[in-house]
Amino acid sequence: MYADENGYKYCPGLGIPDFWQNGSELNFSSRFAAMFPVHRMRRLRQPPTLRAMTRETHVRREQLIYPMFAVPGRGVAQPIAAMPGQYRRSVDELVKECRKIHDLGISAVLLFGIPEHKDETGSGAWAEDGIVQTALRAVKKAVPDLALIADVCLCEYTAHGHCGVLSPEADARVLNDPTLELLARTSVSLAAAGADVIAPSDMMDGRVAAIRRALDAHQFTDTPILAYAAKFASGFYGPFREAAGSAPQRGDRAGYQMDPANAREALREMELDWQEGADVLMVKPALPYLDILRAARRRLAAPLAAYQVSGEYAMLEAAAQKGWLDGPRLMLETLTCIARAGADWIITYYAPQAATLLR
Ligand code: PBG
Repeated sequence: MYADENGYKYCPGLGIPDFWQNGSELNFSSRFAAMFPVHRMRRLRQPPTLRAMTRETHVRREQLIYPMFAVPGRGVAQPIAAMPGQYRRSVDELVKECRKIHDLGISAVLLFGIPEHKDETGSGAWAEDGIVQTALRAVKKAVPDLALIADVCLCEYTAHGHCGVLSPEADARVLNDPTLELLARTSVSLAAAGADVIAPSDMMDGRVAAIRRALDAHQFTDTPILAYAAKFASGFYGPFREAAGSAPQRGDRAGYQMDPANAREALREMELDWQEGADVLMVKPALPYLDILRAARRRLAAPLAAYQVSGEYAMLEAAAQKGWLDGPRLMLETLTCIARAGADWIITYYAPQAATLLR
């Protein structure tokens, strides 16, 4: 509602003076009765051409990012039980799949690694010949135009499955500041191996600044950071943890990932990561958190990403397998809703299927 120079209040988009809208002599239903039959919303819905012309949101193949899991070995493509159609692949198989992904018109993949050995600090994360480093070099060589995003976290590499270094005390808390150095070291090693974008998913405080500083110090000033900025402690990561073998041995991630109840805090997290130098800000999971994405879209000028996570995929696939839901239809519907809420980049296990349909 805004007022013109005569003090008449207008409803944005309607151009109808306020006395029509809020006049005490008119109640809600009579106001709508006054608008029908002049206004008929169905006019633009019925002819398919007009309906298509009126469509406000379009999912583009170029905005899709496909998450993939690299494992040691050769010729390996292990199905992930709770994610039908998704695999853990050895580097040779990953390269083949990346060629297909690129041919489908998808711009980028997000790489995760499952190392041969895990240890207390997660040293496999920054190993020169680490699983993701090896995958990055191979894919960069074979498919140079595919953008490679490297997830940065220690949970796939630590024996305890937490995203950072644990305190030696019995309470085994995840220590923030000692973890930063390891995340920075991992980021530099991934950039050196060919990562085009660095994506920290650990939720330690100050990690974006630490990673930016380290990248810049190693001449990676042009490597952007996609920050998992508002990452919630969610039950929807279950299938991923099975896929990556990264479930915490004890405890949970509530000490570092966000409380699903908190929206204001999510905006603070996003603003902080932005100030620390992140280039793209992510909300994760996607569908149950579209209000956060929308609020961020209104408040921030930053490019935004949303991650439709493993559990969101598993939920739709399970219902589709049972014949309870129409899988392909819901794939496009959910991706459209994520774009409508404000996502520029969409990370989804549906990327290949969606790109095929969107051709
Ligand atoms: C690593 C990480 C996780 C996911 C992305 N990066 C798991 C977690 O935080 O437990 C989840 C992705 C998905 O569920 O698809 N920290």
